[in-house]
Amino acid sequence: MYHEPVLKEEVIQYLLNDKNGIYLDGTLGGGGHSEIILNNLTKAGILIGLDMDNDAQKFATKRLNKWTDQLVIAKKNFRDFELVLQEKGIPKLNGILLDLGVSSYQIDTPEKGFSFSQDGALDMRMDETGGTAAVDLINTAPLSELIRIFREYGEERHASRIARVIVAERQSNPVNTTFGLTKLIHRVSAPQHRVKTLARIFQALRIAVNDELQNLRTCLQKSTGYLRQGGRIVVISYHSLEDRIVKNFFRNESSKCECPPEFPICICNKMDTLKILTKRPVTASDAEINLNARSRSAKLRAAEFIL
Ligand SMILES: C[S@@+](CC[C@H](N)C(=O)[O-])C[C@H]1O[C@@H](n2cnc3c(N)ncnc32)[C@H](O)[C@@H]1O
Repeated sequence: MYHEPVLKEEVIQYLLNDKNGIYLDGTLGGGGHSEIILNNLTKAGILIGLDMDNDAQKFATKRLNKWTDQLVIAKKNFRDFELVLQEKGIPKLNGILLDLGVSSYQIDTPEKGFSFSQDGALDMRMDETGGTAAVDLINTAPLSELIRIFREYGEERHASRIARVIVAERQSNPVNTTFGLTKLIHRVSAPQHRVKTLARIFQALRIAVNDELQNLRTCLQKSTGYLRQGGRIVVISYHSLEDRIVKNFFRNESSKCECPPEFPICICNKMDTLKILTKRPVTASDAEINLNARSRSAKLRAAEFIL
């Protein structure tokens, strides 16, 4: 199993507003959500699936091969999704799905370096053909940058202590593997907090290496320019940093005037572009969590383009 998709029924419920429509799955992964979407479309419907990861693209292409006439798969960062639309002559979409983060396959593949419980090269790039790998960041970033990354993206209280031990060690022994980094974190974390500290530091590095938060912001900002009236945007996030970005974006796009209350008349002329469909984030049922532990932290938010 490449990856078990989360909140399957909820994705269909919130995303699909027209069975003949054109949808974008910006995080194709193993093609799980894409398969469910395609199963719910008529022959006239189209799905565009993007992923930065070569393996995901290959796997999903095989899995979805019975829909080749209705499917466009591209290796692309979802922040640049409009380039694929322009190339295919598609002006507007009925819906956009983002199921953020990494797939189970990526976590379970030691060479990708996402997991602190398996030894592998400290890479963490979803797209292994470009960008800066975690190994370069860990061994060359200034101390202040490592502290910022651990604090901002990992919300790690001991960011400074952990960054200092890395910087001291790397002068004589570059940190090249996941277990190399894990050992250093063990040195400076209390045993009872170790797993959570490791999770926070690995999450922080992954976010920095892949510029995950900026990708999300950029894609959300562009999304409203490419949705038809009534088109939907559905985002599943797995940690509070991502969820906050989605929540704030939806809130901002669904509010009208932003003038200070003391202004007698509106001078900003701000229009609302989205209607929020999920007042609170949708989470997995106990039954789903029992079957798929990954769904425990999933939060789905959806909104509809109303202009
Ligand atoms: C949680 S998995 C998606 C799983 C998928 N929904 C399924 O059902 O199989 C996230 C996927 O999104 C990809 N990804 C993450 N950020 C991306 C980005 N900015 N652009 C393109 N792909 C991205 C990852 O490589 C990974 O394969």
